Amino acid sequence: MMGGLVRSDCSSRRQHCRPRPDGRSYHGDEEAKDIAAPVASPRGRGPSGKEIDMSVRLNHTIVAARDREETAAFLVEILGLPPATAFGPFLVVDLGNEVSLDVAGADGPVHPQHYAFLVTEEEFDQIWGRIKDRGLTFWADAFHQRPGQINTNDGGRGLYWSDPNDHNLEIITRPYGG
Ligand SMILES: [Fe+2]
Repeated sequence: MMGGLVRSDCSSRRQHCRPRPDGRSYHGDEEAKDIAAPVASPRGRGPSGKEIDMSVRLNHTIVAARDREETAAFLVEILGLPPATAFGPFLVVDLGNEVSLDVAGADGPVHPQHYAFLVTEEEFDQIWGRIKDRGLTFWADAFHQRPGQINTNDGGRGLYWSDPNDHNLEIITRPYGG
């Protein structure tokens, strides 16, 4: 319910919202309409089989961390991204497709998740180089059965490695099935 948000909601961790990079706000009906309007929505089939617009886009997700500073620094350094920015309890790591990873310190155990990044061939070489420079183990497969190897799935390249919380990270140069 974007139109119902008020600025004071931003102090609440449950109402996670923040300014846009261009300084405008995500709040208010008029702005919400403007921001939510997709440039070009792909088409898909709804439950009834009717063709529909697929305008829902992932905007951000939370990455739980034992140490949020260490984790955010790890992500931006390995992936070659701008420094994370602080927003409330989060360190926000912005990605190239306007999705952010919002790193938050965990109160308890961190349950490993999977985060996959689509990168260019050049970026793949740079990230792979940083992984090797740090002496980190990498694998060709999601289940970590092929250490020290990369895969060539879908005609591209891919590899997996772990962040300080054992989140299973992946870079690919071609989308699955692409
Ligand atoms: Fe994956």
